[in-house]
Amino acid sequence: MEKKIRVGVVGLGNIAHIAELPALSEMKNIEIVAAFDISQESVDIAMSKYKILKGFTSFDEFIEEDMDCAFVLTPKQTHHEYVIRLLKRGLDVFTEKPLALTLKESKEMVEEAEKNKKLLMVGLNRRYAPVYQKVKEQYKDKCPDVVIAQKNRNGTEYRATLENAIHVIDIMRWLCGEAVSVEAQSIFTNPEYEDLVTAQIKFNSGSVGMLVASRTAGQWIEKLDVYGDYNSAFVYAPDYVTLVNPKNEVTTTMTPLACGWARVEDKMGFTQEVHHFIECVINRTVPLTNAADAYKTHELIHEILVKAGLPGLE
Ligand SMILES: NC(=O)c1ccc[n+]([C@@H]2O[C@H](COP(=O)([O-])OP(=O)(O)OC[C@H]3O[C@@H](n4cnc5c(N)ncnc54)[C@H](O)[C@@H]3O)[C@@H](O)[C@H]2O)c1
Repeated sequence: MEKKIRVGVVGLGNIAHIAELPALSEMKNIEIVAAFDISQESVDIAMSKYKILKGFTSFDEFIEEDMDCAFVLTPKQTHHEYVIRLLKRGLDVFTEKPLALTLKESKEMVEEAEKNKKLLMVGLNRRYAPVYQKVKEQYKDKCPDVVIAQKNRNGTEYRATLENAIHVIDIMRWLCGEAVSVEAQSIFTNPEYEDLVTAQIKFNSGSVGMLVASRTAGQWIEKLDVYGDYNSAFVYAPDYVTLVNPKNEVTTTMTPLACGWARVEDKMGFTQEVHHFIECVINRTVPLTNAADAYKTHELIHEILVKAGLPGLE
C-alpha cells in the first residue's frame, strides 16, 4: 500500500477552511496527523469538520508529532517563527503569503530552508489558478509589452499592499521577468493602512507593468489586461479570461463545464497549489512558488512601497 504523507497544520482560521483543509482532506495519499492553533475553539471546529488525528493549542507539543511536512496558515506576523522551527525540525513547509513582514526575516526563512535542504513553498496561489495559467500559456514564449494589474478591495488591513497586491505583483513577475526600475504613488492618512498604491514597473524583458491597488473601490476586484505580440488577454479573476488575437476572441468562463466543479478553491488555484506542494514533497522537486522565487516578489513590493512614500519591508 502507498505510504501516506503525514501532514501537520498550523493555524485553523479562514484560509485553512477555504483552501488547505478541504484540499488535503480530499487527497487519498494524505493523513492530517496534527493541527495546532492558539484558539481551542478553532481546534475544536476544525476537528469536527475534518479528519485530523490530534489537535493542539501548544506549538511545543504539536511539533513533537511525527510529520513529513507542515502548512503554516496563521497571520503573517507569526510565519517567521513557526516556519523556522518547522524547517529546523526537518520538515518541508508550505506557508501562506507573505513570507514575513520584513525582507530580513523573509531571507532568513529562505536560507533556513536551503541550509536544511527542505522545501519551502509560498501560497502565491494565483499562479495555479486556471484564468492566470491561460494567460501564461499565451505569453510563454514572449513576454507581453504591458501588463495592467488591478487588486482592489476595501481597506481594513494593516499593510494592504503586502497582504493583497502581492498576488498580482507576483503574476506580473511571472509574466514579465525581474524588475529593473519602479515609479510609484500612494494616497494615505495612516501609512500602514494605505488607501491607494499605483506603480509603473520596467522589467528586464522590456515589459512594462502598471499596478493599481485601491482600498476605496468599495468592492473586491482583481483584473489583468495584457497586451503584446498582437495578442491580448483579459482576466476578471477568478471567473473569466478572454484571449484575443487578430482573428479570434475566446472567453473561458470558470463554470462547471470549463473547470470541473466551479468551486472557489479550484478557481483561485488553492486546490492545485496544495496538490503541487505534496507532489514536490514526494518527488523532491522545487515548487513553482518556492521561497527563493517568492522572496523576489517581496523585494519588488518593498521597492514599490518605498517609491510610493510608504514604509518598506525593513
Ligand atoms: N492566498 C490567499 O489568497 C489568502 C487569503 C486569505 C488569507 N491568506 C493568508 O492566510 C494567513 C491566515 O489568514 P486568515 O485569513 O486565515 O486569518 P484568520 O485570522 O482567519 O485565521 C488565523 C488563525 O490563526 C490563529 N492564530 C492567530 N495567532 C496565532 C498564533 N500566534 N499561533 C497560532 N495560531 C494563531 C487564529 O486563532 C486563527 O484560527 C495569512 O498569512 C493571510 O495572508 C491568504
